[in-house]
Amino acid sequence: MVKLIIDTDPGIDDAMAIFYAAAAPDIDLLGLTTIFGNVTTATATRNALRLLEAAGLDVPVASGATAPLVLPPFKPSSHVHGDEGFGDIPAAEPKGKPLEEDAADFLCRMAREHKGELVVCPIGPLTNIALAMQRDPEFIENVKSIVVMGGSLEEGGNITPHAEANIYHDPHAADVVCQGGEKVVFVGLDVTHRILCTAEDFESIAAKSPELGGMLQEMSYFYLKFYLEVAGKNGCSLHDPAAVIACTHPELFGMRDVPLEVSCGGETSGATLAAPDSGRDPVKVCMTVEADRVKSLFLKRLTLLP
Ligand code: BDR
Ligand code: CA
Repeated sequence: MVKLIIDTDPGIDDAMAIFYAAAAPDIDLLGLTTIFGNVTTATATRNALRLLEAAGLDVPVASGATAPLVLPPFKPSSHVHGDEGFGDIPAAEPKGKPLEEDAADFLCRMAREHKGELVVCPIGPLTNIALAMQRDPEFIENVKSIVVMGGSLEEGGNITPHAEANIYHDPHAADVVCQGGEKVVFVGLDVTHRILCTAEDFESIAAKSPELGGMLQEMSYFYLKFYLEVAGKNGCSLHDPAAVIACTHPELFGMRDVPLEVSCGGETSGATLAAPDSGRDPVKVCMTVEADRVKSLFLKRLTLLP
């Protein structure tokens, strides 16, 4: 059983990842922390609470940073995820409230309390994770691993020709996380672009899981439309679910040990770059994936939901 905290900007594929975690028998979800990116941090917190309530999960949500470490705030990615984060599904107020404690403090405390066992899975910009590393020098020692959805070594970018969106939205924070060493795993576009889910896949999920699968299917229309119109792809990438699956099934991914740096300015801002001469300890970057097995795990487990 993996003790997991997901740091998230929900977000359509974030919702897929969180529902996947709710369904997975090998995941003990200890909480969610929220971040800007697909939406603002306030909307991310509202959406995170809403997803947990829909899934019947009583776990805490800690609200995170509202702006990148150094750069000014970016506009939310409404063209990809809709104005409220879930495609055309309108906003709704959850019953619950976030913790008083902020995301970085919550992450530091949980890593201490579950020393050596906590896996943190950031599926949005890395500001909260960098803040946790800066606030508590033992944070990295205390966690079991940090499995990031983000980056691209050989695949090129998705928000610019060079950068993947989560890294682009706070490159300075991502560069801090790149200094975390062997416990840090990047699940980036090199693998997530190989895992595509089609309208038929969402239809089959919704047929077996009408409530939560149905909600994902409703969100998927907007996301699939973006993929078709902008990327010319008949299917959307399972970015965030792939990172959550890598937390429990690392054997489905081929990883390369690479010292990594993030470009923090200019045309290449947000690019993740191999830096063999940097003197940094290598992190792990996923370069290959058993895409069919990841996808079938995703489809099979989501149908366990109501
Ligand atoms: C990442 O960016 C966001 O739009 C998605 O939720 C995912 O975390 C993919 O580049
Ligand atoms: Ca995300």
